Amino acid sequence: MIRLTPLDETALARLLEAAVAGADPLDVMPPVDDPPGWTPARRAAFLAFHRARSLAPATAVERTWVIDVDGVAAGAARLEPRGDAVEAGIWLSRDARGRGIGRQVTALLLAEARESGAARFVASTTAGNHGARALLSGLGADLVTEGDEVAATLPLGPR
Ligand SMILES: CC(C)(COP(=O)(O)OP(=O)(O)OC[C@H]1O[C@@H](n2cnc3c(N)ncnc32)[C@H](O)[C@@H]1OP(=O)(O)O)[C@@H](O)C(=O)NCCC(=O)NCCS
Repeated sequence: MIRLTPLDETALARLLEAAVAGADPLDVMPPVDDPPGWTPARRAAFLAFHRARSLAPATAVERTWVIDVDGVAAGAARLEPRGDAVEAGIWLSRDARGRGIGRQVTALLLAEARESGAARFVASTTAGNHGARALLSGLGADLVTEGDEVAATLPLGPR
């Protein structure tokens, strides 16, 4: 069973565990100038990143959820308002990929985005990310490729 759990400190600790166990840092957080892998500095930066972007009221810009699969953290989903649009993002740990979970989480995010009243659902990925591109085109989003960047837009229309 797939559930989106709103991020809080307890969920954040579970999310870090999922990231360390099954994701590459560059797939789930901004680059940190440190040796490769989940070093103490990178773990601390992961926590600081999510606290700043989602948990601290003074700096929060997005809503983040832990993707729980049968009660175990398997990744994260986010929605960030951008003008009249809302930008979505998802990452899953390696074991959770390719099993239809991304598709289900995208549907949940889309429902949240509609609920928020946003006019457009947008996402960006890279040309080589076939999974993300398949997910987004499957929604009926319009995909525009510029160099290595792919920008997806789906109008949400009136409810
Ligand atoms: C991208 C990601 C979120 C997709 O979620 P997922 O659960 O693996 O995808 P699903 O199993 O729901 O599959 C969705 C669609 O993508 C396709 N797909 C999934 N992985 C694929 C791959 N590696 N290559 C080609 N197609 C792929 C599936 O066939 C399916 O298409 P269909 O509905 O037309 O059959 C996930 O793989 C992931 O977290 N990857 C690493 C981090 C990342 O790249 N995040 C996105 C950054 S924009």
